[in-house]
Amino acid sequence: ARAADPAIAVKPWMQELGDGVDTSPYGMPSEYEAHVKRRNVEWLTADTVSSINFTPLHELDGIITPNGLCFERHHAGVARLDPREYRLMINGLVDTPMVFTLEDLMRFPRENHVYFLECAANSGMEWRGAQLNGCQFTHGMIHNVMYTGVPLRLILEEAGVRTAGKWLLPEGADASAMTRSVPLEKAMDDCLVAFKMNGEALRPEQGYPVRLVVPGWEGNMWVKWLRRIEVGDQPWHHREETSKYTDLLADGSARRFTWEMDAKSVITSPSPQAPITHGKGHTVITGVAWSGRGTIPRVDVTLDGGINWHQARMSGPSLEKSMHRFYYEFDWDGSPLLLQSRAHDSTGYVQPTKDMLRKIRGENSIYHNNGIQTWAINAEGIAENVEIS
Ligand code: MTE
Ligand code: CO
Repeated sequence: ARAADPAIAVKPWMQELGDGVDTSPYGMPSEYEAHVKRRNVEWLTADTVSSINFTPLHELDGIITPNGLCFERHHAGVARLDPREYRLMINGLVDTPMVFTLEDLMRFPRENHVYFLECAANSGMEWRGAQLNGCQFTHGMIHNVMYTGVPLRLILEEAGVRTAGKWLLPEGADASAMTRSVPLEKAMDDCLVAFKMNGEALRPEQGYPVRLVVPGWEGNMWVKWLRRIEVGDQPWHHREETSKYTDLLADGSARRFTWEMDAKSVITSPSPQAPITHGKGHTVITGVAWSGRGTIPRVDVTLDGGINWHQARMSGPSLEKSMHRFYYEFDWDGSPLLLQSRAHDSTGYVQPTKDMLRKIRGENSIYHNNGIQTWAINAEGIAENVEIS
């Protein structure tokens, strides 16, 4: 017989009335979930204004990132725009330069799509070896949200792009006036001018009231607080596409315009911030996978550092350029494990090892690291970020 469990007894919350409906008009998570939050890495940036924090992937399940937990990356702090003074200007190589208010944008036909946004610098600190202990820090520059917005194509058609117009320059209204060159074909294909995330208005951190959504492409191009789109005949070669977000190769040349995010995955639990606490026996492994080129039909999981691979179980919607959730259940005998996951995307591409990536791209890279992640689990269930070759 088992010892009596005091948790099954009558508790205070069964004996007194709870809060009424007006106590929290905007709902917040349980006080017991206060540890589930965005975190930064203090030494990574000189200050918190031009900085980054990370999504707590190890605490999440399913595929949607809650709005308050979406990682933030901004170059000049969070702009606090008054929506009544919001304007979107379209200028350059168009028949009719135009200025739209927020209300004007809402009168276009709108669409709903779930997309991941991954910063090209995600996992950048891991390029030369295992460094940060937690998937929040190694892989947390990503969020996956349902956007409501107007296809950029409709707005461009309203202004009339001239034949010479081949490139766009979206510009942010924050103090960094962020700009990136976006090819016209992408804009006409699936870009959105978005004003809602997960059903409610964008959060200030995510670009309230309007951001550009560039599905499957590096997060830097998703200009927040979008104020202007200039149409031009060639790329602008601004800071964010020359000195930043390029990949310095071993021969000293730099790879540019690597917009599409390659297929990638990570085991979110167990992981360094989410150890196995129940001892040996039935154990659930879970994680996320995504590709900027389509869907993820398959993820493999290994328990022994890649000697044997097992096909994971996918669960939840499988949407283009969106996060996918996988599970692998097994009986843990309590011996040390080397956990890895490997994503296959709908184009047939298979996520490479970090060694394979470094063989092609050298040691200098920061951006676009989609290599396979390894967690070493010891007999106590403690997980550590390691690299194996
Ligand atoms: N847009 C503006 N206006 N200013 C910025 O600093 N940062 C970019 C992009 N858009 C940025 C911006 C970068 S590098 C990334 S990765 C994403 O926004 C981050 O989006 P998030 O803060 O919603 O996670
Ligand atoms: Co970024």
